[in-house]
Amino acid sequence: MDKKPTLAILGGSGDLGGGLARRWAKAGYPLVIGSRDPAKAAQVADEIRTAAGGSTVTGATNAAAAAAADIIVLAVPNESHDAMVATIRDAARGKIVVDTTVPLAPPKVSTVNLPPTGSIGKATQDALGPEVRVVAAFHNVAADHLRHDHGIDCDVLVFGNDAQAREAVVRLAADAGLKGWHAGVIANAVVGEALTSVLIFINRRYKIDGAGVRITGTPQPGAA
Ligand SMILES: NC(=O)c1ccc[n+]([C@@H]2O[C@H](COP(=O)([O-])OP(=O)(O)OC[C@H]3O[C@@H](n4cnc5c(N)ncnc54)[C@H](OP(=O)(O)O)[C@@H]3O)[C@@H](O)[C@H]2O)c1
Repeated sequence: MDKKPTLAILGGSGDLGGGLARRWAKAGYPLVIGSRDPAKAAQVADEIRTAAGGSTVTGATNAAAAAAADIIVLAVPNESHDAMVATIRDAARGKIVVDTTVPLAPPKVSTVNLPPTGSIGKATQDALGPEVRVVAAFHNVAADHLRHDHGIDCDVLVFGNDAQAREAVVRLAADAGLKGWHAGVIANAVVGEALTSVLIFINRRYKIDGAGVRITGTPQPGAA
């Protein structure tokens, strides 16, 4: 069996990062939880390790977590995104960076708000340069679902310029219990990022606890 890559979850003490971390720890990935506060990271890592039973889960500062990992997952609020990207610039070289950031503009979170660059995912790729393979994903999964063991009625659109890096994230989605789809180049991340505000609107309008999206159609054998 292939050795699983070590994942750094920056913002792993938070809602989305914590939920993904729990699922990936249960799937056997070695994890480093990143936080601004290493003591908090260590505490969250202890909780996740205990819940997952057996996986290697440690805590560190965001920078140290990024340096220790094969794949770096950005799960911090939009306001801190640019600073976090700058923090990991050196550590990210040669690695895959998974960007989950949705550019919400509180309080109008049900209105699509996109950056001048087009999408956060593309901004991350532009900032980190061609030595880093940025993949944007998980924008449309409600964090609360990830924290429970139930199945999640939501697919994951996976955007990135490098097909192998996208495939690695499709696999990460599967190991978190989610169906991931290759959804094109990083510029397409605009769709996943924008869709979150639409889902928030639908949640409010129809009183749904975390609406999701599904891709329909059956891939031909060998195409999936
Ligand atoms: N929540 C969702 O359902 C959901 C769904 C899809 C995508 N997302 C995206 O996932 C990302 C994280 O969302 P979230 O809801 O998990 O956020 P969150 O819980 O509010 O924050 C995540 C973590 O980010 C760190 N953080 C907070 N402010 C920071 C700052 N100014 N500088 C550096 N780090 C800071 C905190 O960790 P420490 O205090 O330990 O440093 C916090 O635990 C966002 O970009 C969001 O758009 C969220």
